Amino acid sequence: MSEYILTLEGISKSFPGVKALDQVSFNLKPGEVHALLGENGAGKSTLMKIISGIYSYDEGTYLINGEAVGELTPKKAQELGIAIIHQELNMCQDLTVAENMFLGREKSRFGFLSQNEMNMEAEKILKKLKIDLAPETLIKKLSVSKQQMVEIAKALSTNARILIMDEPTSALTDREISELFEMIHQLRADGCAIVYISHRLEELEHITDRVSIFRDGRYITTKNFGETTLDEIIAYMVGREITNKFPNVSCEKGEKILEVKSLNSGMVKGASFELYKGEIVGIAGLMGAGRTELVRAIFGAEAIESGEIILNGKSLNIKSPKDAIQNGIVLGPEDRKLEGLCTKLSIRENIGLANLDLICNSVGVLSRSKEEALTQKAIENLKIKTPSAEQIAKNLSGGNQQKIVVGKWLVRNAEVVIFDEPTRGIDVAAKVEIYNIMNDLKLRGIGVLFVSSEMPEVMCMSDRILVMCNGRITGNLKASETSQDEILKYATKYN
Ligand SMILES: Nc1ncnc2c1ncn2[C@@H]1O[C@H](COP(=O)(O)OP(=O)(O)OP(=O)(O)O)[C@@H](O)[C@H]1O
Ligand SMILES: [Mg+2]
Repeated sequence: MSEYILTLEGISKSFPGVKALDQVSFNLKPGEVHALLGENGAGKSTLMKIISGIYSYDEGTYLINGEAVGELTPKKAQELGIAIIHQELNMCQDLTVAENMFLGREKSRFGFLSQNEMNMEAEKILKKLKIDLAPETLIKKLSVSKQQMVEIAKALSTNARILIMDEPTSALTDREISELFEMIHQLRADGCAIVYISHRLEELEHITDRVSIFRDGRYITTKNFGETTLDEIIAYMVGREITNKFPNVSCEKGEKILEVKSLNSGMVKGASFELYKGEIVGIAGLMGAGRTELVRAIFGAEAIESGEIILNGKSLNIKSPKDAIQNGIVLGPEDRKLEGLCTKLSIRENIGLANLDLICNSVGVLSRSKEEALTQKAIENLKIKTPSAEQIAKNLSGGNQQKIVVGKWLVRNAEVVIFDEPTRGIDVAAKVEIYNIMNDLKLRGIGVLFVSSEMPEVMCMSDRILVMCNGRITGNLKASETSQDEILKYATKYN
């Protein structure tokens, strides 16, 4: 009997123009949490899709309990006890929680779907996992974080022996994350083998037994987590040491560029603040504090009930994102799949769509060469890993998709650039690239506003920090003079 429940050796996989995996090895012991780490595009998700029968592989050996599995399909993988929580949410928006959980293995009675039975079963599983959701709720009514919890419940409901979690925490609140870790501890104690993929390296210490590192489709090394350090792991991931994880630059604060006065929009109540040229302002707060709503209102994506937005001394009448963009206010949104990216279009088309006014002439004819030049600029500036500008966005790795969401606006001359969780799902080295972009904007005299749930990032990259709680701005702090504790105090202060 093999020590390993799963053994992969010499696995390769190519896509047109990309060798995603080159002779990689990976193994799993029962009852371990094995973190798989690597930069965006390293091949992590591809390998997980091979393990779960979604992709075939070009060469290599795949063994379960020491035995070859042969041709694998998603269904067969499930029968072998393999479950996967995908990096991108995969829910059917018009079905209920229970229907999504039992998709493809619906319960039926006398040939009819048994809604009742599925609801009861789903309720049992949700209760066991302490997820407070009614099985009859439509998925589209749920927040991204709740949807992610359903995805997790779905995978666990199959009684998996091998559970793959591809960035499960990217959209979860801190409380949900600690609940997830509790679940992971329980599963590990029950002998389940877990593959854990995350770019939030600080999470690893809570759960990880071993770590394997990939770089550019190649296997680099495997270590016992206790016998290595985060700095060593990062060096293996990027092939060099990253000395400054938060590069910040200082420059003279310029004139006031944006003023928001007593803004009311949905849950946002009486928000007032100012942004100056050459300033980076971070917006901190707990999940649900109204940060995304505030920036969406400024961008014209939420209706403004009352209040004023003043840009360069001029009061604006923003009714839609188009108005905002025309005035030089742009936003890189939080949810890339829903709003930030057309996944079926190419990189070029995504960049082009966001900048039609720049690439079309006065009678609306699109200049392909201008579009290509803009795209090339974005690919280079952001180091997007792709065989060409024509690659369909869906085929890029998660982090590289995120770079397009951020990058599509940067090729134009904006006055105020807003980012909502710009580094979600992005690897350590790419984070530094995004920070450099923010710094670059700052040095060019642009006002930068960014929402982030990552405390170190808000603390280190901002000049000033707005803290939100319950729809209100409760704190306006100078970053160099505040502390994490003080921010948290304002983030939980109801008034
Ligand atoms: N279906 C596909 N068609 C073409 N190329 C693909 C496809 N899936 C993945 N790739 C390419 O394979 C490489 C590895 O991608 P993969 O998604 O496995 O990376 P990853 O390590 O999961 O990255 P991330 O941390 O950004 O999620 C990337 O260059 C990606 O563009
Ligand atoms: Mg991935």
